[in-house]
Amino acid sequence: MKTVKDYIRTIVDFPHEGILFRDVTTLFADPRGMRLAIDQLLDPYVGQRIDKVVGLEARGFIIGGAIAHQLSIGFVPIRKKGKLPGAVISEEYKLEYGEAVVEVHDDAIQPGEKILVVDDLLATGGTAEAGIKLVERLGGEIVGCAFIIDLPDLGGRKRLEDLGYDIHALCQFE
Ligand code: PRP
Ligand code: HPA
Repeated sequence: MKTVKDYIRTIVDFPHEGILFRDVTTLFADPRGMRLAIDQLLDPYVGQRIDKVVGLEARGFIIGGAIAHQLSIGFVPIRKKGKLPGAVISEEYKLEYGEAVVEVHDDAIQPGEKILVVDDLLATGGTAEAGIKLVERLGGEIVGCAFIIDLPDLGGRKRLEDLGYDIHALCQFE
């Protein structure tokens, strides 16, 4: 039987020369791949209280929406700066070159709500850490952070685990 990793395509030299880009669109486009990924992302959390799924732009929206539907709970997007229409809170984080800002609506999470954070890929962990900070600033409690792919060489898992968060990833690429 194919594993989640088998459905992920690698594109050489995207977006820059020398980068091997792990492309989850081939996983999402396959009905068995999509079902397998969503089921496995949820597996460790069966029986735990989760009130909302928070998805990180952009591919975290795709899996976050599917997970929220599966659990019959709400979905909250964390977006890049300037995209959300209502009142927001913001967090800045470091990129390989420069900085970026992510935002969430300031009324999207209520204090005490149990939150599962999801994204397609964990690299340095900067995006996920900024997302976690936004959730916690609104009073949300992080149940865990679930990713399809972990790139361990970039240190994101260690960074988030050192901060005390529970990390779940379906596969790794060196
Ligand atoms: C990618 C990926 C994660 C983030 C991981 O998104 O989907 O969100 O980078 O990197 P990090 O762990 O080093 O923060 P990207 O920034 O390319 O944005 P996009 O999904 O909107 O294209
Ligand atoms: N794929 C998708 N997003 C990414 C990657 C990748 O290989 N590396 C950093 N962000």
